[in-house]
Parts: sequence; structure tokens; C-alpha cells
Amino acid sequence: MYILNTWYVAAWTTEVSREPIRRVICEIPVVLYRKRDGGAVALEDRCAHRAYPLSPGRVVDDSIECGYHGFTFDCEGTCVRVPAQDSIPERARVRSFPVVEKDGWIWIWTGDRDLADVGMVPDTHWMNDPAWATVTHSFHFKCRADLIHDNLLDLTHESFIHTSTVGDDYIYKHGVTVEVDGQVVSVDRLMPSVAAPPLYASTMSTEGLYDRFHCTEFHIPSFHVLHSGITGEGRPREEGFLIKVLNGITPIDAENTWYYYAFARNFGVDQQWATDELIEGLKTVLQEDADALEWQEIGLRGRPASEHDVLIAQDVGVAKARRISAQRLAAEQEARVSEVKQAVR
Ligand code: FES
Ligand SMILES: [Fe+2]
Repeated sequence: MYILNTWYVAAWTTEVSREPIRRVICEIPVVLYRKRDGGAVALEDRCAHRAYPLSPGRVVDDSIECGYHGFTFDCEGTCVRVPAQDSIPERARVRSFPVVEKDGWIWIWTGDRDLADVGMVPDTHWMNDPAWATVTHSFHFKCRADLIHDNLLDLTHESFIHTSTVGDDYIYKHGVTVEVDGQVVSVDRLMPSVAAPPLYASTMSTEGLYDRFHCTEFHIPSFHVLHSGITGEGRPREEGFLIKVLNGITPIDAENTWYYYAFARNFGVDQQWATDELIEGLKTVLQEDADALEWQEIGLRGRPASEHDVLIAQDVGVAKARRISAQRLAAEQEARVSEVKQAVR
């Protein structure tokens, strides 16, 4: 059901401390905490003894002690203490996950740990660059992750659900250019000679007409970079007011998703009023998406299996991304089945 051989955002770095926290990622319960040297640890949040979650327990040195009967697991998931006896059963261990901390994000590898490649963690360097200012939000979306991917790949919805913020009536009138590069699907839209979107116009201190653009780059299956902005009519994009919207999409289960959102801009970087305005405005944008996708999830749940989406030309990116995701999921599942078959032989 989920692509697991990938990096998902597990939390913001600021959320993980010596106090353990719980996340459910692709239906896997995970506890996150920090070691004494500050390194982040991710273990399955289910004690090997009798399945009590470890997250209500306490961190002792670099280990975590279960709050029920005190079994203690080190940061590799090996049980190092059973208070009621001297010997430690061999099977007393919990799964540990590779984690990477970078630019304010904590990434977790949910699949086969031998395949975890740090080089595959998406580029988010704008978060760490003083030439850019960043606003972040995280939301619990009550919908499956696929609906968020579709939503980001088809931004014509901005004309309808974001009318007071980033929307404008002209968006759906402009076609898209779609490109596929391995596991990355890009959907690019240029909107020449238009006004800046209402939410950014005051932050950018702009008036008049510009070329607006947005290009969603979906790094299947868990991350989107939206390269967006406005530039002078006919001018190169790099000269303009630039925005990088970074979207970490982490499934919780079949009907719930964590949404980690960062909005980096290269204009008004030192203007606190602009940051404050964007914090509020972007919260509204995300809530508009959350409400719409919750409704869509309700619609899908009631839809007979015989009915399917009616995709249009604007959905080319959606269709391509769905195909690649399905192929990747099938390949992972096939590999898992043959592993199991080999193990029972
Ligand atoms: S359930 Fe964790 S120690 Fe008993
Ligand atoms: Fe949206």
C-alpha cells in the first residue's frame, strides 16, 4: 500500500528532543528522541515485551525505557535491561530506522535499511541560506497522501479554492508543460502579463503586470518542490521574486497524512511584518487545501468501485506521476514477496 524504500519527513528538527514523541508513518508507529550528543533516534514505537508504546516512556542516557515494566532499548533497538531478571531474551528488540537531519527536517527511511542512501534525501538548502527567509507549517490532512500529490500537480484548483490568497481567475486558462526525469515529474505553467497573487502582492511591494510561473517538481513518493514566483514581462525567471515551496508529504494511514510545509522567499527577507503576514496567509491557504481534500476523501469513500476519475489535459502530470508511483510500489511489493519466498524455501 505504501512505497517504503524512501525518505519521508518524520518531524521538524525543533520537534525532537530528550522527551520522546510519537509519529505514525505508513502505518508504522515510530518514537523519536535525541541522544546525549544531540543525534536523532527513530525506533518502532512498540515495546517487544507486550506492545506498550515506548513514546510514553523515558529517555535514559541514549536508550529509552518502556513505561510499563521498564524494558530498556538502546538507540539500535537492542534490549539492554529487563529490570525483573538478569537475562535478556534474544527476541527482545525493536526495529530501528535510519534518520537524517538536514536544513530543519528530520527524514526517516521506512524500508529496507540496506537500501537507505543519504544521497537520496531531497535538496532543501534554501532553508539554510541567509538569502532566503522561510515560514513553516505542519498540518494533519484527513485524506490519503495521493490526493495531496494530485493537488500539488494540478494547481488549477488555485482559481477556485484559494481565491483570496494565491488564486486568480487566470490560472486554469494557461496550459502546462510536463516533464519526467526518472522518479521526478515536473509540471510547469507560465502565466504572462498578470498581476501578482493577492497574498504576495503587498509582501513583494509590487503593482502592475508580471510574468507569473509555477513549476511543481514531484520527487516520488514523498516530496514536492514548487518553484514559483513573478518576474518582469518577458524577463528570465531568476531575476524575479522567487518562492520555493517545499512540501513533505508523509502518509499516516489510508485516510490521514502529515503535511510538512516550508515557504522560502528571496524578497523582503528581513521584513518581519512580511513574515508575519505570510505565516497567517499561508495557514489560510493550507487550511483551504485541507478542507477541500477532506471533502474529496469523503467523496471517494462513497464512490462505487466501477467509477473512475475523468482526467483532462491539465491532469497530464497527475496521470504520469500515478503511473510511476504504481510501478514503483508494484516493484517493491514483488521484491518483498520473492524475499519471503526465499526465506521459506
Ligand atoms: S510492555 Fe514494555 S516493559 Fe512490558
Ligand atoms: Fe492548494
